Amino acid sequence: MQRHTKALAVAALATLLATGAYAQDNAKARPAKGKPVTVSNADMKHLIEDSFSSRGPATVEGVLNQDAMQQACSQYPDRSKVPGKVAKKIEAAELKQVKYPADSNWLGDWKEGEKVAQNGRGMQFTDQVGGTNGGNCYACHQMTKAEISFGNIGPSLYQYGKLRGNSQEVVKYTWGKIWDSNAYSACSNMPRFGHKGILTEAQIRDVMALLLDPASPVNQ
Ligand code: HEC
Repeated sequence: MQRHTKALAVAALATLLATGAYAQDNAKARPAKGKPVTVSNADMKHLIEDSFSSRGPATVEGVLNQDAMQQACSQYPDRSKVPGKVAKKIEAAELKQVKYPADSNWLGDWKEGEKVAQNGRGMQFTDQVGGTNGGNCYACHQMTKAEISFGNIGPSLYQYGKLRGNSQEVVKYTWGKIWDSNAYSACSNMPRFGHKGILTEAQIRDVMALLLDPASPVNQ
């Protein structure tokens, strides 16, 4: 969630600079009154480079260096407008990047998984580089009945395992979704936890258990 807030802040600041101070510095480039100000991608890049400095795990390069998926998705500010053909291409490419557990050990300890799901720390400028990150799943998902503070950007995952069962297909899909959310829905808001190294394999195993272990409070 914090990362999204930061991204929003970057976007808001960039817009502010683009429409305010920056446009004034470039009076010649200023369009007629009432006309929207347009800023090229190159100008936006310079703005971000000039306005921010890297600190800890929060780096300017992290904002600017988009991979192929991010570049493709950035063409569609309204994510519901991503054309089906483009979405299919993104999903196929992202699915290829999913790393499944080599030892076929898919499920860890749901108690540890609950801690990962609750933990919203990590990847902020106040965090240590290479420190342990949380998954912050509750920021977007309902998961257990006991936790009543949750966001609804994502669907409720309450009784996830109870409703879907534990077939190999479900287990593999769930791992893939957590590893790289975009493998199953292009330009998703959900972070690519495995692909971007946000969570370790062991943490993903624990979160998998939280969702799929019949003893987990998710499935009560
Ligand atoms: C910033 C919001 C956000 C966060 C954080 C987030 N998710 Fe999601 N998640 C979504 C959205 C949105 C979807 C719906 C599909 C899509 O757009 O990817 C989703 C879908 C899912 C699905 C597929 C559900 C289905 O019905 O098939 C699973 C499983 C899942 N998330 C697990 C997790 C886990 C586990 C975590 C924490 C490690 C997590 N999510 C963190 C937003 C989020």
